[in-house]
Amino acid sequence: MRFDIFTLFPEVFTPYLESSILKRAIANDLLEVYLFNIRDWAGDKHHTTDDTPYGGGGGMVMKPEPVFAAFESILGENPAFPRILLTPQGKPYNHSIARELSTENRIVLLCGHYEGVDERIRQHLVSDEISIGDYVLTGGELAAMILVDSISRFLPGVLGDPDGALDDSFASGLLEYPQYTRPEEFRGWKVPDVLLSGNHAAIDRWRREQALERTFIRRPDLFNNIELSKKDNEFLKDLEQNQESNEGDKK
Ligand code: 6GU
Repeated sequence: MRFDIFTLFPEVFTPYLESSILKRAIANDLLEVYLFNIRDWAGDKHHTTDDTPYGGGGGMVMKPEPVFAAFESILGENPAFPRILLTPQGKPYNHSIARELSTENRIVLLCGHYEGVDERIRQHLVSDEISIGDYVLTGGELAAMILVDSISRFLPGVLGDPDGALDDSFASGLLEYPQYTRPEEFRGWKVPDVLLSGNHAAIDRWRREQALERTFIRRPDLFNNIELSKKDNEFLKDLEQNQESNEGDKK
C-alpha cells in the first residue's frame, strides 16, 4: 500500500515512520510513504504558500496554485485513488473508515494549514475530507499520521500476529476486554482466577462479558451499530437491573 502525503512540514512525519511497527512495515515492503513539500511547487521567489482571505478577517489561507501543481506533477491528470484533505470540517474518522481505506492500493493525503485551504482545493482537487475529532489542530499532519498508522494495522503482515487486529477494541464493535500478563500477583492485586483456569470456554465468556460491561459503562453509543446474541442481551439486562438497584441503595 502506498501513501503520498502533501504537507508544508514533511520533517514531522519521519521520526514516527522510522520507529516500531511502521518502520518494520516499510522495511518489509508492505507499506510505502512518500512525503512531498508543497513549498517546492510555490512559483514565486519567496515560495509563498498562503495569503490573506478575500473579504477580510483574520488568518491566512493556503493558496491553490502550489497545491494543484504539486498534485498534478506527482499524481498525473486523472488520479483514480482517494485524495483526502485532513480538516476539522471533514467526515468523522473511525475504525470502519480505516478498514475500508486499507483495501486501496494508493491513498493521497493533503494536510491543511493556517486558517484553512482555498475552497477550490476542496471542490476540484480532493475526493474526500476527514476529521479525526471535534477539536482543532494547528495542522493536518498529526491527523494524516493517525490515518497512516490506523490503516496500516489492517494490512496483512503489518502486525506480527496475523489475528492482531481481530481482537482490538472496535473490531467486534465493542471496547476490548481487560488484559493481564505476569506476575500473577502485583502489589497485592491479583489476575482474575478465570484467566489462570485453562478453561477456554469460561475465559471466552468472561472476556465477552467484560467487553459488554466496559462498553455499557463507557460507550453505550456503540451498541447502536452492533448485533448482540441472546446471551449478550441477557447479560446486559442483568447489568442494567443491578445498576438500578445500586442506585436505589444510594438513596
Ligand atoms: Cl484532520 N485537521 C486539523 N487541522 N484539525 C483537526 C483535524 C484535522 N481533525 C480534528 N481537528
